[in-house]
Amino acid sequence: MRPMHHIISTKEYTREMLDEILDLAEKLEPIAGKKIKSEIMDGKILALLFFEPSTRTRMSFEAAMLRLGGKTLNMGSVEASSIAKGETLSDTIRVISQYADAVILRHPREGAALMASECSSIPVINGGDGAGHHPTQTLLDLYTIRRESRLDNLSIALVGDLKYGRTIHSLCYALSRYNAKINLVSPPELRLPDRIVEDLRMRDIDVNITNNIEDVIEDIDVLYMTRIQRERFPDPAEFNSISDSLRVTCDLIQNAKPNLKIMHPLPRVNEIAPELDATPHAAYFKQAFYGVPVRMAILCKVLGMEDKI
Ligand code: NCD
Repeated sequence: MRPMHHIISTKEYTREMLDEILDLAEKLEPIAGKKIKSEIMDGKILALLFFEPSTRTRMSFEAAMLRLGGKTLNMGSVEASSIAKGETLSDTIRVISQYADAVILRHPREGAALMASECSSIPVINGGDGAGHHPTQTLLDLYTIRRESRLDNLSIALVGDLKYGRTIHSLCYALSRYNAKINLVSPPELRLPDRIVEDLRMRDIDVNITNNIEDVIEDIDVLYMTRIQRERFPDPAEFNSISDSLRVTCDLIQNAKPNLKIMHPLPRVNEIAPELDATPHAAYFKQAFYGVPVRMAILCKVLGMEDKI
């Protein structure tokens, strides 16, 4: 198998590399689902470095490591660490490299994970860098699509904050490897950055841009909703001016395909009506569970354990 040291972005990943991790995750699912015990990470330590809030990314990585018999080391809040004294990210990473075997980093600055990987002697996993990328979310999104819908000839709508949403940026690049039809649905102010649209078109991907979910709802297999990323807006007035009109309800999906799946990286704010939770369309809580086997697979890959599974 190809070595995969740091996990920074999905841009360069081939279909073969993506499939390899998804296959590994499938093998690990019984361990994530508490059906089988494992000790393959015995003696290994994963450091958790979160400079931004997180529930799923932090806890599912932690659950993945613990269920594989490894341990985690959490820097805790920024206020409780030397970052509060003015320590640089590169110094922090250099030191943590000596304490742990891999590190998962979430940071508000785009490019932070790449920078960290350049001064780290252990694998760095990008857990989200500002409005940049979120590759491990993408891997669990692909896994969810493969398990709950289909990856080949997929028609998907990516809805919401396509400008600042890092889950969207990473997912677009990965979907391009499966020749998906990508419908981009957002208010004009929150369109996907031009450079990403151009990259997708260069890869011969069918990209359709619209402001309304109604325009595409009958054609799609997956509706991928996202939150408006309030914290990324340079001007709060700009945030307030954007309506939360992109909301999915039972009414809206009346003419959708019967096996339409609704996904969301979570947290949701207002984008998905709770009345949908009990319908077979709702895949977002399963998606959050799939984070565990997929992150187990990622850990096995970066720590060179995949042959032990
Ligand atoms: C996402 C993130 O942090 O980018 N959350 C997650 O990791 N599940 C999405 C978001 O915060 O809106």
